[in-house]
Amino acid sequence: MSDFVTIFEMGPRDGLQNEKTFVPTADKIRLVDMLTECGFRKIEVTSFVSPKWVPQMADATEVMEGIYRHPAVSYSALTPNATGYAAAKRVSADEIAVFGSASEGFSKKNINCSVAESIERFKPVIEKAHKDHIPVRGYISCVTDCPYDGPTPPEAVAKVARILFDLGCYEISLGDTIGAGTPETIGRMLDAVLAEVPARHVAGHYHDTKGLALSNIEVSLDKGLRTFDAAIGGLGGCPYAPGAKGNVATEAVARLLEQKGFETGLDMEKLAEVARFALSLRSVEA
Ligand code: HMG
Ligand code: MG
Repeated sequence: MSDFVTIFEMGPRDGLQNEKTFVPTADKIRLVDMLTECGFRKIEVTSFVSPKWVPQMADATEVMEGIYRHPAVSYSALTPNATGYAAAKRVSADEIAVFGSASEGFSKKNINCSVAESIERFKPVIEKAHKDHIPVRGYISCVTDCPYDGPTPPEAVAKVARILFDLGCYEISLGDTIGAGTPETIGRMLDAVLAEVPARHVAGHYHDTKGLALSNIEVSLDKGLRTFDAAIGGLGGCPYAPGAKGNVATEAVARLLEQKGFETGLDMEKLAEVARFALSLRSVEA
């Protein structure tokens, strides 16, 4: 089993998308550039979504055009549909992500369609990306609990994971969107998903609402996962998941991994500096 763990940095996208006050484009660009210097290989920069739904991401094109592009870093963007994909392609996103849900309630609130309809929308996006040689990541939200439908059956997550993997997503990122998962529920969910998709193609994306995200990462490591999404400073929340806090803090994940003897390739001192800058961008102190 590999000793290297990839932290997929979410701060500029998942971290900032829920900020009520518009974060100036120049600050978003500075944040991404500072993150690039920390040694990440994957940074989610922005979302090509409807600005009416998520106004904070309205400057997606300007941010992608303004950042320094280190050749070793993959700069990704969310693309829910063909419109989003075309915009991401125009700015040469290194990879894109489609984002679905294991629960119907969240799917409807977040992307305005059912789970089955979302898969139909993703198909042409994934096909076009493959023709353009752009890797596609697939998110699944509400992998243990949904703010609208309650607990999510592990089989529902495994089913969507299998579909997205079969459609050609290179990695399936499992979102505990509201941070309600526990080591037990995350473990059970992973057992179902890993029966369908190999662990090396699965990532954990855990929000830290109850302070259990690090424990959930430990369980996931035991099950063979080697990629985790995290946001610098623990920034964030989802506009369509009321009460959800940010992703687990990148610097806390990096510290845990270091203690456990894993490599991340990240500069801990620089991470601390970027965390301070990231937190200064929030309109309300937590
Ligand atoms: P809709 O209203 O059903 O879409 O929204 P539509 O096709 O009817 O279009 C409505 C309007 O939006 C039209 O403009 C379109 O042109 C425009 P109008 O004619 O009214 O002026 N439009 C777009 N504009 C820019 N970029 C686009 C785009 N598409 C349509 N790509 C839609 C459907 C998916 C667009 C909408 O629901 C949406 O944008 N949702 C995004 C929600 C979102 O970003 N949520 C947060 C990210 S997901 C997340 O945080 C979870 C995750 O972190 C994992 C986890 O934690 O679980 C990934
Ligand atoms: Mg998220």
